[in-house]
Amino acid sequence: MASSDRLSFLLAFLRDRKAVGSITPSSAALSRAMGRRANIRHHANVAELGAGTGPVTRAILDQLPPTGRLWSFEINPDFVTRLRSRFVDPRLTIVPRSAETLADLAREVGIVGFDAVVSAIPFRMLGRDASTRLIGRVSEGMAPGAPFVAVQYSPFYLRPIVQDVFGNWDRSYFLWNIPPATIFRAEKR
Ligand SMILES: C[S@@+](CC[C@H](N)C(=O)[O-])C[C@H]1O[C@@H](n2cnc3c(N)ncnc32)[C@H](O)[C@@H]1O
Repeated sequence: MASSDRLSFLLAFLRDRKAVGSITPSSAALSRAMGRRANIRHHANVAELGAGTGPVTRAILDQLPPTGRLWSFEINPDFVTRLRSRFVDPRLTIVPRSAETLADLAREVGIVGFDAVVSAIPFRMLGRDASTRLIGRVSEGMAPGAPFVAVQYSPFYLRPIVQDVFGNWDRSYFLWNIPPATIFRAEKR
């Protein structure tokens, strides 16, 4: 990971703690683990929520089939500029708007829904009602059977929310990250 990524991430965090939610980007190992939990190798249309400086974007592109497509949502304009200059991959579209608009994007690109969603949005900073609303909107843009995979630094916070929205959940722990992370997974039914 470039040290300029760490610095720009820290500055973004100091400007908007609630949206950025962490002082450092996800490690490459955690990003790969998120991709594996979402089974990226088997999906055609994948959405990433909260791309930041792009570690998870990189891991998803490495795992995505050659004919797959990735749409990466990011609301921070500095990160959007960085992502656009960093990734030159015809499978990737950077979406400079909120993840709330995922279902609109599915309609715009003419698909029933995304086959997989991978999120690093710091839901805990949003609070329970706003998180439930946002994840509910996201679920409207997912295809039946699609996995929703979200990394969080609290092992508890997302469980009731994911259960409310999807009616199912599981979680795994990823200890090789500072801080240790929890990866939640649910399936759109
Ligand atoms: C904890 S950072 C994760 C960045 C990167 N994926 C990583 O793992 O290092 C969360 C990111 O989510 C973005 N974000 C927060 N709310 C968002 C929303 N509603 N839609 C899209 N991006 C959002 C923030 O701007 C920030 O870049």
